[in-house]
Parts: sequence; C-alpha cells; structure tokens
Amino acid sequence: MGKNSNNMSANNMWGGRFAGGPAAIMQEINASIPFDKALWRQDITGSLAHVAMLGKCAIISTEDMAAITDGLNQIAEEFERDGITEDLALEDVHMHVEARLREIVGDVAGRLHTARSRNDQVATDFRLWVRDAIASVDAALLQFQHILLRRAEEHHDSIMPGFTHLQTAQPVTLGHHLLAYFEMISRDRQRFADAYMRTNQSPLGAAALAGTGFPIDRHMTSEALGFDAPMANSLDAVSDRDFALDFLTAACQCALHLSRLAEEIILWASQPFGFLQLPDSFSTGSSIMPQKRNPDAAELVRSHAGRIIGCQNALMISMKGLPLAYSKDMQNDKPPVFEAEKLLGLCIAAMTGLVDEAVFVPAAMRSAAEQGYASATDLADWLVRQADIPFREAHHITGAIVRMAEEQSVPLDQLALADMQAVDSRIDERIFDALSLDASVRSRNSYGGTAPDQVMQQIQAAQQRLAD
Ligand code: ARG
Repeated sequence: MGKNSNNMSANNMWGGRFAGGPAAIMQEINASIPFDKALWRQDITGSLAHVAMLGKCAIISTEDMAAITDGLNQIAEEFERDGITEDLALEDVHMHVEARLREIVGDVAGRLHTARSRNDQVATDFRLWVRDAIASVDAALLQFQHILLRRAEEHHDSIMPGFTHLQTAQPVTLGHHLLAYFEMISRDRQRFADAYMRTNQSPLGAAALAGTGFPIDRHMTSEALGFDAPMANSLDAVSDRDFALDFLTAACQCALHLSRLAEEIILWASQPFGFLQLPDSFSTGSSIMPQKRNPDAAELVRSHAGRIIGCQNALMISMKGLPLAYSKDMQNDKPPVFEAEKLLGLCIAAMTGLVDEAVFVPAAMRSAAEQGYASATDLADWLVRQADIPFREAHHITGAIVRMAEEQSVPLDQLALADMQAVDSRIDERIFDALSLDASVRSRNSYGGTAPDQVMQQIQAAQQRLAD
C-alpha cells in the first residue's frame, strides 16, 4: 500500500463524518438538550419567578405576565405528561421551553427573556437542581444511618477482631465498628449541608455577565425561588460553578466511605473470613460454580466510587483555565454532576440494603479474634498493671506466651496457668480476667471505646443527634 492509498483511507475516515456538513457537526457538538432536559422543571420554575418579577416591576405589562405564566404552566403539564421532544437545532432546555412558549402564546413569549440571559438562567436552574439533589442524598444518608444504628445495637456486644494493617490487633465489637461508619456518614451529611448553604444563592438577574439596565428586583426572585440571597457580584454569579464542585467533592468523600465499607463486606463475606452471609437480595450466583454467592453489589459500589471521583475530576479540570465570565466549556458541568448523583444514589441504596439484610456470624468473628490472639495487648497491660513490669519487658513476656499458645493451638485464655508461670513467675490466676475476649472489650470503656456499655451509650447519643 502506497502513501496515497493511506491518505485516501484517512480521508474516508473523517470524510464520512463530515458528509453531514460542518453545520450539522456544529449543531451536534453545541447542543446540550440530550442531557440538560433534566433541568426542565427548574427552568420553568425559574422563568415563573422571573416573569412575576418583570410584571411586578412594570417591566412588562400585567397581561403579558399572565399570558406567559399560563403558557409556562401549560408547558410544565405537557412535559410532565409527554416528555420533551428533542430538537438539536434548539440547542438546550432553555430554548426548548421558550420555543414551545412561543407556539402557545405567540410573540409575547419573547418578553420573557427581558433582563435575563441564558447565562444567569442556566446557573439558576442548575443551582435549583443541585439543591434538590442534596436534599435527596441527605434523606438517603439519614435512612442509612438509622439502619447502621439498628444493626450496631443488635451487635453491640458481638466480638470480632479489630484490625490494623489487616492484621488482628485487638478485639472490638461489631457494633463499635458499624458506629465508625455512622460517624463518617455524619461528616458526609455535614459536607452536603455546607455545600447546600453555598448553593442556595441566586444568580438570577446577573443577566449575561454585567447586570442589566432594567429596574429588576433580584431580591424578589431570590426569595420566590427559596434562595437565601441574590449573589453579590454578577460576574461571579454567571461564572461560578463552585456549588457543583462542592456537591461533587462531598459526593466523592461519601462514595469513598461507602467504598471502604463495601470492601469490608467483600472481605467479610469471603470464606476465609466468614463474618457475614450476603443476603440473597444483594448477591449473585456464578454460572459455573454452584457454591458461589458473589458480592457484586458491594464490588460495584467500590467501583462506582472511582467513577464518582472521575466526575469530580472532569469538572475541576474543565473549570480550572476559564476566564470570567461564561464560556461554553461550562455547559459540560452538567453530565458529571448528573452521573455522580445517580451513581451515589445507587451506592447509598445498595449499602443500606446490604447492611440492613446482611446475616452476621458472631461465632466466626469470635473465633477469628481468638485465633488471632486479639487479647495479647491485655496480657501485656495486665503484666504492667498487676505485676509492675515495665511495658517493654511485658511485651517480650507476652510474645513468649503467644508463641506457646500457637504451639498448643489454643486461644490465650485456655493456656494452663502453670505454663504461663513457667514463662514468668509473677503471673497469677487473676490473669484470666484479662485474657478472655469479653474481658478485653469490657475493659475498653473509655469515651468512644469498644466496650459494649460504651457502644450502647454511643448509640443513644447518636440517636439523639439524629432526632435533634
Ligand atoms: N446550554 C448552555 C449551558 O448549559 C446555556 C448557556 C448558554 N449561554 C451562552 N452564552 N451561549 O451552559
């Protein structure tokens, strides 16, 4: 094949795409209706507030205001019933609404856009959407917290190995472990609440970028839309996408927490752990290995977290080089936010279901803690406290005793007293109070610790926090 034929095929490659003509490609790359149609409710809500303000401020007549209002309400009914018929030539959701309005009310439709631009319009719509998204994420997280508390209470004294480096460290209770996730979700909800606060500001009336010469009342539209205040700077109002990034960043952090729990559930459901059985409703079988029950939902939560982080990344990178005020790059703010919201909703729902229905196996958790000599620290602490041995030496003695237990294949509290005394004569029978797993967890009653009584107190405090 010669050079020319290569060129030919290269030409054919883009030639086919180009056959639609530059205008068609421009239309396709420019149009946002395939995704921003999700904003139609917010768009109509924003326009209703805007037109009411135009009427009140006598920028348009009362009759025109009424006609436009009726038209917008009719469009809302139509879209609710029939959906939106996409037309790439109409670019975006704003133009779809306006075009339909013109069909319904005639040329008066053109007055709706007085003292407004799509720049402040889209910023307003998107803030309204993100506001709703935050409210629904928060409701789902609250429900998840209730489930975590219920399971924590049920297992406030179920002993399992606590890990560091994924090595058995000290015994903890499952209730205590689940409460750790409760705390993470509490912080996630705070982050979303914080994002909400900054989202809830009105850009409407900033117009294209510089404000407007019409005598508008930005406070009126801000209030009508439930925003806390109009944004103070019109350039900032149309160019700011911090609220979308705040939402995505909170979503990343939350997804990260859910992913860590998903990872633990995957481990715990594996045969060598056996700490839990996956509910039928959240596992899948294998087509060839009949014994399998796969943790697909948890695995997908773990992976969705990666996609959500990707969404945040995409918008960060889109925004970082943009001069003020509006650039078309910003049209691409919506797909990552929509995607992250959908994925996060699924992740929260899946983890809520998994935690709600998982069958924990306390006997397996206890036996893993025993095999891992989870109470070895208690033995060393006992030597320090009761026998007045320096910690370093106590650590050494404990090591020898653990080795002995390993050789005899028994948990620490089943070693013979005489054997332990052979290692160090200062040991007496009171040692057994320290060695059992139950004694070990019971002793860790410091604030926030793993003792069952402490866990119950934490659960009550958590319930109180949710009720406040
Ligand atoms: N579809 C556009 C977006 O989502 C609306 C704003 C268009 N503004 C403009 N000046 N072209 O960003």
